[in-house]
Formats: sequence, structure tokens, C-alpha cells
Amino acid sequence: MADRQFDSPDALARSLASFLVRLARRCVRQRGRFSLVLSGGGTPLPLYRLLGQEPWRSQMPWAHTWLLQGDERAVPPHDNRSNWALIRATFGDLPLADDHWLRMRGELGALAGARDYQLRLHVWAGGIDLPRFDLVLLGMGEDGHVASLFPGRPAAAVQGALVVAETAAIGQPPVPRISLALPLINAARYRCLLLTGSRKRLLWQQLQQRPTRLLQLPVSQLARPLFCYMSE
Ligand code: 6PG
Repeated sequence: MADRQFDSPDALARSLASFLVRLARRCVRQRGRFSLVLSGGGTPLPLYRLLGQEPWRSQMPWAHTWLLQGDERAVPPHDNRSNWALIRATFGDLPLADDHWLRMRGELGALAGARDYQLRLHVWAGGIDLPRFDLVLLGMGEDGHVASLFPGRPAAAVQGALVVAETAAIGQPPVPRISLALPLINAARYRCLLLTGSRKRLLWQQLQQRPTRLLQLPVSQLARPLFCYMSE
């Protein structure tokens, strides 16, 4: 597990953008494609902005890249609470074919949206039961949630599904949600946690001691290799 500490979110984003380009190019060389699961929330936005700008934009192998979602609020894509709306607005106009974006359909609601995404992932993965993404980007809440898997909620403990519905109006904003399940997140080749602010950094540092009281948090159940990029 590699932790990287930066002085600012911009410095974090620049370093992670360069890491992502190197990883993407290596994955394309080795397997012909790069699959990146995008986190919702605000922390990854500076990274998304940089990937749509030079020099990273022309360095990324977009023709062989697929962008997927890690979680989504159960709202329509034009709703200002939608992770998709923020992601697309922040990336800007990428040279990425429409069928290389795999959007969670929040407009279907949490349960139907989760079922829909699971089916579409199955097709995207060529019918294999457990797709293996190259990299999953994740934010973390101050309560230790990742994606839309919240402490103590059934969705965080689901083992038999790849995509789960969080039917409670939970998180910020408090709405039902769709989320990749932990087994699918942990099946990825790499996971990268992006943390900003002292409270999240303190929680992350406490987690390194693996105290029993924190082991049940979704963030504690992330598999390795797990990169953690932190900034003020
Ligand atoms: C969401 C996000 C969420 C996020 C964390 C951190 O839909 O709200 O996916 O899980 O990653 O809450 O959010 P910030 O990066 O905005 O602090």
C-alpha cells in the first residue's frame, strides 16, 4: 500500500494524472485496453479536469480507454446532484467514443439502476462473471464510506452482486444511490483512494493501526494494492 502526500489538491491531481497516463499506456500495451472506474464527489474533479487538458489529454490512449462509474446518486443525469453531470462537465470534450463511457442510469432509481448497470457490465465484460477493472478511483467520506457503500448499511456487506442499491436517502446529498459492490471493487487490478483535508487524513492514519472498532468500515475492506493520494 503506497501513500503519497501532497501540499495541495492541484499537486495531487498533477501527480495522479501522470501516474494514470503511465498506467493506461501500460495496460493498453499489455491487454489492449484500459478500464478506469471514476469516483463521484468533489475530490477527484481536479484530476478529471487535468486529464482533459494538455499534456495529459494527448498522452492518454483514449481510443482504448473505457470510463465507468463507481457510484451514482439515484437522480437524472441532468440533475445537479448527479455525479455523471459533474464528471462530464469537468472532463469537457474528450476524444472518447460514446460507447466508451458506461454511465450509471440514476434516473431508473437505486434498485432498477443497480440491476441495469450490473447487466450492462456483464455485456461490457463479454459475459464473464467478475469483470476486472484496471483501476478504481475512490473518494472517502469522513465516516469511512467509499463509493456509496456506507458503514453499517446492507449494501456494504453484499457479496453475491456486482452492483448494489443503497435505498436509504444517505450521504451528502441525502439520496438513494447505486454503487459498485466491494467484491467488484476488490477484483480490480488497482485501487486508488483520494483524500483531502485533515479529518480524512487523520482517519486514514488511524486505519493504518487497524483497530478493531474501524475494521468494519467499508474503507477498511478495500483490497491491496491500494494507493492513497492525500493532500491538505
Ligand atoms: C458520492 C461519492 C462519495 C465520495 C465521498 C467523498 O457520490 O458522494 O462517490 O462516495 O467519494 O463522499 O466525497 P468528496 O470527494 O466530495 O469529499
